[in-house]
Amino acid sequence: MFNHHPPFLRTMAKTSHDMWTKGWAEANGGNLSLRLSPDELKGESGMEPKNDWQPLSAPLPNLSGAWFLVSGTGRHLRNIALFPEKNTGLIELDAAGANWRTRWGFEPTGRPTSELEAHLQTHAVIRETSQDVDHAVIHTHTPHLIALTYALANLDSAKLTKLLWQMHAECIVGFPQGIEFLPWMMAGTTAIADATAAAMRRRKLAIWQFHGVVGVGRNLDAAFGLIDMAEKAAQIWFLAMSAGGVQTRLTDAQLLAIARNFKVTPDPLILA
Ligand code: 13P
Ligand code: ZN
Repeated sequence: MFNHHPPFLRTMAKTSHDMWTKGWAEANGGNLSLRLSPDELKGESGMEPKNDWQPLSAPLPNLSGAWFLVSGTGRHLRNIALFPEKNTGLIELDAAGANWRTRWGFEPTGRPTSELEAHLQTHAVIRETSQDVDHAVIHTHTPHLIALTYALANLDSAKLTKLLWQMHAECIVGFPQGIEFLPWMMAGTTAIADATAAAMRRRKLAIWQFHGVVGVGRNLDAAFGLIDMAEKAAQIWFLAMSAGGVQTRLTDAQLLAIARNFKVTPDPLILA
């Protein structure tokens, strides 16, 4: 058992509290995970396995032996800072990356988030695509991004990305890879996990229609910041719409100029 709060627990507490204050985390809405390095766990003791190995839907070999701090299913993110040992837990994967078990937390008898498959599959992808830089995955219920998926018909990744880039000049710099639009799927399923992980091969953000958003980054701050930026762009769109409609917006030429200035390459299928 931790007799202190190591930095990874403190950043989880801070980020989940920020998600609550932003209005993104009603009841048990949303979940977070952080891949930990062996160094971060050095000196921690009292972490005997708390359950038998549980199978994943498919092995994730590049997560062999990896440890994660994960929020618990049914837990309220706003309570993580108060009782981290109840509302979060540490899990490890076996040598094949095929099974997981709890090593700390989820007290007294909890489990990791119901979106564990989406988190772990996404970690497997981003570990590879970022050359081991990206360690954090956040899923959350951002109201303006969700509302966009109700307000606009026939959305796709290109339309959604372009709209967000146009409504907030930071967005093309923050997520030049764009945001993936995933049509509604049942929460907590292997299908939504597969689709999310596949999207993260080319992007750092994905929107789940009528449900929420997933963002990744090198740490929880980075993932949170990306989601916050996209959510703000959606909010600006609603503000403009409620003030009479979007009368003007950043042009393609202006967007390309911003991208050039900040040395980012937008997804060429969305803007070239
Ligand atoms: P959990 O409580 O299982 O994390 O589920 C919350 C959620 O947002 C599901 O999509
Ligand atoms: Zn959710």
